[in-house]
Amino acid sequence: MVVLQVSPVPALTGTLRVPADKSITHRALLLGALSDAPVRVTGPLDSADTAATLNAVEACGAAVEGHLGDALVITGRGVRGLRPSPAIDCANAGTLMRLLTGVLVGQRCEHVILDGDDSLRGRPMARVARPLRRMGAAVFTAPGGTPPVVVSGGQPLRAMRHDLEVASAQVKSAVLLAGLFADGETWVSEPAPSRDHTERMLEAGGVPLLRDGDAVGVRGPVGALRLPDVEVPGDFSSAAFHLVAGALLGDPEVRLEGVNLNPRRTGLLEVMRRMGADVVVEEGAPVAGEPCGALVVRRAGELRGTDVEPGEVPAMIDELPLVGLLAAFARGVTTVRGAAELRVKESDRVASVVAALRAMGVRAEEREDGFSVMGAGRLPGGAMEAVGDHRLAMLGAVAGLASADGVAVGNFDACAVSYPGFAADLRRLGAA
Ligand code: S3P
Repeated sequence: MVVLQVSPVPALTGTLRVPADKSITHRALLLGALSDAPVRVTGPLDSADTAATLNAVEACGAAVEGHLGDALVITGRGVRGLRPSPAIDCANAGTLMRLLTGVLVGQRCEHVILDGDDSLRGRPMARVARPLRRMGAAVFTAPGGTPPVVVSGGQPLRAMRHDLEVASAQVKSAVLLAGLFADGETWVSEPAPSRDHTERMLEAGGVPLLRDGDAVGVRGPVGALRLPDVEVPGDFSSAAFHLVAGALLGDPEVRLEGVNLNPRRTGLLEVMRRMGADVVVEEGAPVAGEPCGALVVRRAGELRGTDVEPGEVPAMIDELPLVGLLAAFARGVTTVRGAAELRVKESDRVASVVAALRAMGVRAEEREDGFSVMGAGRLPGGAMEAVGDHRLAMLGAVAGLASADGVAVGNFDACAVSYPGFAADLRRLGAA
C-alpha cells in the first residue's frame, strides 16, 4: 500500500480537464452492450471501476474494440441477447453490480454469480434484489443481503411501481433496466431526485421515459435499443476535489474544463457558496445530452460553517466528505444530516471521514446520519488512512496541501478506482 506524503503549498493555479464521468462511462458500456448497432464511446473513464465494467460486458458476450481513456466501439448483442459467463467480477464497483443485476434479469441465463472485492462484499444488495424479486425475477444475495448476488434471468417480469425509501440512482437504474423486459409500466419514485444519467441515456437510445410528478417509468417490453455514439464529459465528482483545493488555495485561480454540470450532481456548489467560496460556473454546450461547462474557483476569504439538510444530500452524496474537509477550514460548526447512506459507500464514510479529520487534528463527531465538524479556520495535519476508499485518498491529499504541517495519506493508491492520475493533476496545479 502506497503512503503519499503531502506537504503544504502556498497556492495552486492552472487549468485542468478532469477525468471522464464514472457514472456515465459505466452506463455507456452497459447500454452499449444491449444496443442493436455498434456504439462508439469517446473518452470513457480509464479507472479500476470502469475496467471492471468493460470486462463485465465482454463477459456477457459484447465485443469491445479500443481502450478506456481513448475511444472504443462496443458491438452489443441486442436487448435480450447477452450470454453472461457463470461468474462476473465487479471488483469495487457498486454501480456495475447493481445495474448489471437489472440487466441480467432480462437475459437468458442461469445462476450467474456477481461478486467483488472485500469492500463491495460489505455493501447492501438487498435493495436491488428485493424490488426485482417483486417483479418476479430470480435474484438472491448472501444471508446479510450482501454480495455475491446470484441472478437467473429470463423469467416473465411483472411491471409495477416501486417507492424507494432512500434516494439511489443505482437502485432506480436497476429497476428501470429490469422494466425494459416487463410487460407494462414499471415506475420508480424516490424521496429526493438522484442522478438521472440512465434516464437520459435510455431516452437517447429510443426508449421513451414516462414521468408523473417525481416518479419516472418505462413501458416494456422494449424490443430494441439504439444508443447513439457517446462522448463522455468530465466527472463533477472528480472536479470536486480540485474545486475544494481551489477554494482553499486557488491563487489567482483554478479552472476546470469540460465538467458535467448535471444539476442532480452539483449540490456541492450551493453549499460551497453558502460557506463563502468563490466559484463561477461557465455553461458550455451540452455533451452526451448532459449540461457541461467550466468551473473557476479562487481562494475564499473566510469560510463559514453551514448545515447541510437531508434534502440536499442526494445531489452531493459523493461530495459530502469534502464538505467535512472545507468545514475544518471554516469558522463555526458544520453539520451534515440525513446522510446515513454514507455508511454504506466504498467505506463507512461517516466513520472514515470523521476518523480522517481527527487524525489530521480537526474536531469532528459522528452522528448516526452524518457528522459535525467544529471548524477552527485551519487544519494542523498528521497521518490519515484512506481505508480502501478512493474518495478518502483524494481528500487526504487536498487536506495535506492546505494543512499547516503536511499529511501522510495511507493507502493513497485507492484513488485508482476513479482517478488514477489524481496526484499528477494536483502537481500540474502546483503541488510539490
Ligand atoms: C452512482 C450513484 C450513487 C453514487 C455512486 C454512483 C451511480 O450511489 O454514490 O458513486 O452511478 O448511479 P447510490 O445510488 O447508492 O446513491
